[in-house]
Order: sequence, then C-alpha cells, then structure tokens
Amino acid sequence: MKTCLSLLLLFLGLCQAQPLVGEQSVADVLEDNEDMDISTRILISNNGTSELLLEVSSAYTSAEKSRIVDALQSFHQSTCIRFVPRRNQYDHISIQSRGGCYSYLGRTGGMQVLSLMRSGCMYYGIMQHEVNHALGFNHEQTRSDRDQYVKINWQNINPSTVYNFQRKNTNNLNSPYDYTSIMHYGRTAFSINGRDSITPIPNSSVQIGQRKGMTRNDFLRINRLYRC
Ligand SMILES: *[C@@H]1O[C@H](CO)[C@@H](O)[C@H](O)[C@H]1NC(C)=O
Ligand SMILES: *[C@@H]1O[C@H](CO)[C@@H](O)[C@H](O)[C@H]1NC(C)=O
Ligand SMILES: [Zn+2]
Repeated sequence: MKTCLSLLLLFLGLCQAQPLVGEQSVADVLEDNEDMDISTRILISNNGTSELLLEVSSAYTSAEKSRIVDALQSFHQSTCIRFVPRRNQYDHISIQSRGGCYSYLGRTGGMQVLSLMRSGCMYYGIMQHEVNHALGFNHEQTRSDRDQYVKINWQNINPSTVYNFQRKNTNNLNSPYDYTSIMHYGRTAFSINGRDSITPIPNSSVQIGQRKGMTRNDFLRINRLYRC
C-alpha cells in the first residue's frame, strides 16, 4: 500500500497540469495487495448492506457539491447502493479535493479518501469512475478474461506504469467484457509514444475509454456485487 501511495504521489506531481478527459494520465486507484480478489472479498464480507457512509468536504462550492450529488444520484437510481451522510462513524468514504482524481479500491475501513480535485475532476463520468473504485471495481482492461478482447502493447507503455495493465484474477460477476465501461482505459493511456497502449481485438476500431457515463453493465455489476 505504501509503495502504491508514493508512486501515485509521484505521478500526481508529474502530471498535475494535464487534463483528465477520457484518457488516464495519472494512476487513479490505490490498490491493495491482498491475495483474494476484491469482489470475492466484498461478496463474503457483505452483510446484505448496500449503505455507504459518506462525507463531502466543505471546500467545494455549492455548484460543485451539486455536481457530486448528481453523480452519486445515478447510483441511487440504478442500484441499491445508498450513500448516507456520515455522522461520526469510523468507516466512511470522504470526498475531498486533493491532488488528482483517485480512490482507494474497495471498502478499506476507516476513512477512505476519494479525491476529486476541484480543477479537473468535476465531471460526471470521472466522478462515477472513482466511485466505482471505492465500491470495489478495478479497471476493465485488467479483467481476468481481457486477453480475448484487448491486446496490451507493452512496448508503447511507460515502464514505470506497466502495473496499470497487469491482468488480475478478477471475479467478473458473470458480466460481459465491456469496451464502453466507465472503468475502461483509453487507447493511449500511459503511452510513451502516442501509439496504442491498448488495442481492441479482433476489431481494432472499436472505441474504448469513454467517460461520459456508466453503462448498463457497469450498473449490473454493482447490483450483483452488492446483492441488490
Ligand atoms: C455482519 O453481521 C453480523 C451479525 O449482525 C456481525 O456480527 C458482523 O460483524 C457483520 N460483519 C460485517 C463485516 O459488518
Ligand atoms: C469495427 O468497429 C467499428 C467501430 O465500432 C465498426 O464501425 C465496424 O463496423 C466494425 N467492423 C467489423 C468488421 O465488425
Ligand atoms: Zn481508475
């Protein structure tokens, strides 16, 4: 965890000025190193609760807060997830404007920071993306079955960022691989030369990496993971 954190800060330091639209230009998920897949862990520890305690920093303007609420509202509309204002409970998600758009993966316990920097992260799709990490979802292109759907072009990837592309032993909750998932990276994410870091197969023209909004599949997975 510590290594990931310092790596992240390094990226943020280097990349802060870059806009985050569609492409991933900074590491935005702080991963754990547990052996068991996060979905499986959540399924086991889940007590049939889909309530998540949450607080939003007072540093946001009311316009920014209402954008955050809009994004959170989409989860209420399409899943059984309920974000409930935290009072003084220990475990909670804390939305703050720190140096980038990022989140810890899954429910970490204690205060789980979800950073939405005021300049750069106040977009519906980006907020939904980070909330998905907090709920326990990895990036789509790291799914266990991804090699049937995308080719990772290791030679085009910045070597210090290759861990973002490593395949994981994910529990895919019987949901199909989704190129249009809010959790899919863009084609040139972390590319060192502008060429594809990720190429869809067999049809290389398929679009990947949208950040407009969550898909039906994105919502379906949440409903499965949280037993809605
Ligand atoms: C699940 O519920 C049981 C019984 O209410 C409780 O003892 C346990 O601590 C809960 N586990 C979690 C992870 O909340
Ligand atoms: C490949 O994907 C593009 C973009 O979605 C689509 O227009 C095209 O028809 C596809 N080609 C084949 C052979 O499926
Ligand atoms: Zn991410």
